[in-house]
Amino acid sequence: MTTPSTRVAVLVGSLRAESTNRKVAELLRDRAPEGVELVIADHLGEIPFYEENLDATATPATAVALRELVGASDAVLVVTPEYNGTMPAVLNNAIDWLSRPYGVGAIVGKPVGVIGTTPTPYGGKWAHADTVRSAGIAGAVAIDGGIVSQSVLEVDPLTDVDVLERFLAVVNALAAFEPAAA
Ligand SMILES: Cc1cc2nc3c(=O)[nH]c(=O)nc-3n(C[C@H](O)[C@H](O)[C@H](O)COP(=O)(O)O)c2cc1C
Repeated sequence: MTTPSTRVAVLVGSLRAESTNRKVAELLRDRAPEGVELVIADHLGEIPFYEENLDATATPATAVALRELVGASDAVLVVTPEYNGTMPAVLNNAIDWLSRPYGVGAIVGKPVGVIGTTPTPYGGKWAHADTVRSAGIAGAVAIDGGIVSQSVLEVDPLTDVDVLERFLAVVNALAAFEPAAA
């Protein structure tokens, strides 16, 4: 058995027990390419809303765990639906925690890919674009071809081979990412 050389932290933007996006994340984890390990961040819904005084005095254990997971990972994959034309609040909150301390947050320098599904023709593209922008402002690095917004009106993303390939292409791009030389 080989040891995975690339670890990808996965942030899921839906807390729903039967979440399609969560199932997509689990499918990708189970079908991860050789040498790539996907670790889904649990308990995002239990992290308090970001608050600077709380962070300065008593960073919640759930936020510490998220920071440790992302800090120990080579890349970040977000799998999310869209809420009201943007990313769900739970995901926005996770990015806020990962963006601090300012300039040295756990997400700084990590390549980020964003995929997801919604039952609309657009597949969550506004949420996905906003996530890349927000993560980039937080210090993450957007990768080429790093967004896949998949409508589930006509395909089942859990069984469609082409959709799985498009999602896996993002995972592969994250694994292949090499930071630009300084
Ligand atoms: C509060 C709320 C707002 C939503 N807004 C949007 C939206 O703006 N665009 C969209 O495509 N879907 C929207 N939806 C539908 C979600 O995309 C849909 O519920 C999706 O299946 C959730 O993903 P999940 O199965 O992973 O939980 C919204 C759903 C909720 C609960």
